[in-house]
Amino acid sequence: MDHFAYRGGELWCEGLRVADVAAERGTPLYLYSRQTICDHYRRLAEAFAPAAPMICYSVKANANLGVLRVLADEGSGFDVVSAGELFRVLRAGGDPARAVFAGVGKTPDEMAFALDQGVHLFNVESAGELWTLNEVALSRSRVAPVALRVNPDVDPRTHQYVATGKRGSKFGLDMQAAASLLDEVADLRGVRVRGVHMHIGSQITSVDPYRAALERVVDFVAGARSRGAELDTINIGGGFGVWYQDRSAPLAADHARAILPLVASAGCRLLMEPGRFIVANAGILVTRVLYRKEAGDRRYVIVDAGMNDLVRPALYGSHHRVWPVATEAQEPAAGETPAAGAGAWDLVDVVGPVCETGDFLAKERRLPGVRPGDLLAIFGAGAYGHVMASNYNARVRPPEVLVEGGQHRVVRRRETYEDLVRGETP
Ligand code: LLP
Repeated sequence: MDHFAYRGGELWCEGLRVADVAAERGTPLYLYSRQTICDHYRRLAEAFAPAAPMICYSVKANANLGVLRVLADEGSGFDVVSAGELFRVLRAGGDPARAVFAGVGKTPDEMAFALDQGVHLFNVESAGELWTLNEVALSRSRVAPVALRVNPDVDPRTHQYVATGKRGSKFGLDMQAAASLLDEVADLRGVRVRGVHMHIGSQITSVDPYRAALERVVDFVAGARSRGAELDTINIGGGFGVWYQDRSAPLAADHARAILPLVASAGCRLLMEPGRFIVANAGILVTRVLYRKEAGDRRYVIVDAGMNDLVRPALYGSHHRVWPVATEAQEPAAGETPAAGAGAWDLVDVVGPVCETGDFLAKERRLPGVRPGDLLAIFGAGAYGHVMASNYNARVRPPEVLVEGGQHRVVRRRETYEDLVRGETP
């Protein structure tokens, strides 16, 4: 599924030895594989080809300009949630006419910016937002194209922080409220409702919640049309899960089999907003072991990357595969752990330098005896990795390096101490 592979006990990214890139660029370091990004994008495009979908890569997953440029080159559109993300898309050479603007709290200024850029659709999440958008559009003599985000009330069976499509969530409009709103706004001159949007959650590892949600959306479209609405687009959002630990997520083709017939039955154009599916396994975080330490009955491997660099384990308890960049040991199959005491295997917590007990990258993992100076790869770090990094503890954020065509390119340099204080006054 990706272009990170062990050959002769060493980790390679495409045609480059990861250790060589780390030696040149230092650690911690985010390393991305262009080919993996392209492969995942193409896999989706092929699986959904019968519907000729508009694929709008969800910028929040990885907003680096180099990554956005790769996707723009593939012909991808973009899903943005702020004017800042739209600015990034423009900087990367993306086409605003293939961008959708989502989010529960768009400001009038952001709406004006997106209108001026000519975004494809605004995903509107509340009545208040729709009225505001109407005002902003009228003041600029424009008509804003809109998709109403509905909450289909399904359980995506994922982490509670990233479940969005259940009743009572802050996202979207209840179906009934959306139907009434559609009738109310039919005469507004600043907005034209053209579609329905849903996004039921993230890291969803079954097709069933999509099917259940789409059945409701298809009914909604039929009902709305019978009352005169002209809806031509269904945006199914993002959320396709990936393999972090085991092979438990559906393939693009599995999703397509569940989703395509429903969208076809509504006679609508298909739009989708995948983020994680495209970039998660296209990136690793490379970190160096600083120290080892025992405390009570626990063994710690202290590394130079922390929760400020990759917050997912601390925030969601997420599992990221961790393995040495160079080792003769055979990695256990997914879900298996080697027997305790076998060889030099240690049961360790991989932790960072940040001053919080919550600062861990992996807990209770069996690793072959790693020593200070060794490099570790944290896999599945391409999505919601660097974008969620912070300067907590006044730590500089790591560089992002893109491997492409047998070479590597720094697409964001490591921050400096000067970056840390930019804009501040003593
Ligand atoms: N569309 C909308 C409206 C969204 O809110 C999201 C993600 C996506 C698309 C893309 O979802 P994806 O295909 O990447 O699952 N920080 C969390 C994930 C937050 C997802 C937020 N919304 C994590 O690290 O797991």
